[in-house]
Amino acid sequence: MKLKIKTVSEKDTMSVAEKLAKSLGYPVVISLVGDLGAGKTTFAKGFAKGLNITENITSPTFTIMNEYNTGIKPLYHFDMYRLSSLEEALELGFSEYFDLTKLKGVSIVEWAENTKGILPERHLEINIKKVGDNEREIEVEPKGLV
Ligand SMILES: Nc1ncnc2c1ncn2[C@@H]1O[C@H](COP(=O)(O)OP(=O)(O)O)[C@@H](O)[C@H]1O
Ligand SMILES: [Mg+2]
Repeated sequence: MKLKIKTVSEKDTMSVAEKLAKSLGYPVVISLVGDLGAGKTTFAKGFAKGLNITENITSPTFTIMNEYNTGIKPLYHFDMYRLSSLEEALELGFSEYFDLTKLKGVSIVEWAENTKGILPERHLEINIKKVGDNEREIEVEPKGLV
């Protein structure tokens, strides 16, 4: 199943993410796929808003993971851009955030492809494609369903 949504502004993408956050079951692992500037971090911001997180969501490119505990579910926002292997991510102690039997809220990951194998089989993939200056095609696909 693939859900396709077109957005025409940053605000629009945030609103899609906000609504998705309110409709999903938890725990859930989300992989955000898309080029630099596609809108992955923007999507994470909207998602956090949907969980009533009031803190400012900043890109975790340098910290690799930012944790937010003020919302209705804990949010762990990852950016694996600076990592180059699964081993590196495991050394940093990240495995529990990708274990659905341990995770309490949501792990939302940018550049998961750099730490191939870290995602649980069952996760939600969100693919964001830039199709114009302010237009994006968002595809939501649940993975690992039988
Ligand atoms: N429809 C849209 N959805 C998301 N971002 C958009 C959209 N239109 C323009 N933008 C801009 O694209 C950029 C996306 O940046 P960002 O979310 O940091 O991307 P990424 O994390 O994928 O590198 C922002 O500057 C944002 O304002
Ligand atoms: Mg980003």
